[in-house]
Amino acid sequence: MIFSRTSALFALASGAYAQSQYTATGTAAVAKAAATALTLSPTSNVPGSTFNRFVQIWLENQDYSAAIADPNLAYLASRGITLSNYFAITHPSQPNYVAAVGGDTFGVANDNTHYISASTKTIVDLLDNAGISWSLYQEDMPFSGFEANWVNQETGANDYVRKHNPLMSYNSVTSDTDRLAKSKNFTMFYEDLDNNELPQWMFITPNMTNDGHDSSLATAGTWSRNFLTPLLSNTNFNTDSTLIILTFDEGTTTGTNQIYSVLLGGAVSSAKVGTTDNTEYNHYSLLKTVETNWNLGNLGQNDVDATAFF
Ligand SMILES: *[C@@H]1O[C@H](CO)[C@@H](O)[C@H](O)[C@H]1NC(C)=O
Ligand SMILES: *[C@@H]1O[C@H](CO)[C@@H](O)[C@H](O)[C@H]1NC(C)=O
Repeated sequence: MIFSRTSALFALASGAYAQSQYTATGTAAVAKAAATALTLSPTSNVPGSTFNRFVQIWLENQDYSAAIADPNLAYLASRGITLSNYFAITHPSQPNYVAAVGGDTFGVANDNTHYISASTKTIVDLLDNAGISWSLYQEDMPFSGFEANWVNQETGANDYVRKHNPLMSYNSVTSDTDRLAKSKNFTMFYEDLDNNELPQWMFITPNMTNDGHDSSLATAGTWSRNFLTPLLSNTNFNTDSTLIILTFDEGTTTGTNQIYSVLLGGAVSSAKVGTTDNTEYNHYSLLKTVETNWNLGNLGQNDVDATAFF
């Protein structure tokens, strides 16, 4: 009783109706929470019109022109469809992540901690309504549902950051422990992969080194190729109905915000491998594509008029 009243007070202080028991960053508090935090690995098999699994992987802060010239990203492009006219929504990072799951930036215009009202819906509401399983995989998050930022415990370097976790700003997600339990780390990704328990919709965020944020385009390109190559031949991940998009959150602030995005996976027909699609897309296309594929309806935001990939 006392415990839940305390939690409620913390919740009000940190954003109405968001959970607050997973925000501590001290070593002992994190170890304690890690021992008890719920982890869920839901699966389902709802057929879509073009694909049965949708995977998005987000890298950081490069213009299209630079990224397409990276040898590893160019190699990956050669194995799929290059979307050569794809734009991020805005700057800086966080509103792009927010927009890609909710259909709007909802006033988020910086990388600070934001709490979006519990009445604001996201793609996971549409997925849940249709019984389509989903999870977030965030490299180096210390435990499922963790809601703060986490540094490398040996070097102190930024590692997992809340601003690159697309659903964490939404109280409709963080007020629900079952939803928090589907925000997982890469340990869980590989466990779910090995157990053949990956969901139908997933969002993958590499850590601050591997996504290029605190390193270089070359690091992000190398990581992407090394991460994806074994997965593309693993049928627990990639079947003939898996669609993968490798993209960036945004371009540099001096460019047009055109970014590299490539469609990969078995849902790309062999006739399309190595081709280029010059249709104009943006991050709202990620929503429209998923909504169209599974006939989910829409969020009534910028997803409505976005262009789907198929
Ligand atoms: C990843 O999350 C799981 C589930 O909460 C946790 O048991 C595990 O220790 C985490 N892995 C790392 C490397 O932090
Ligand atoms: C990110 O992950 C890689 C392994 O994939 C690791 O070598 C690197 O140290 C991690 N970055 C940070 C900041 O911990």
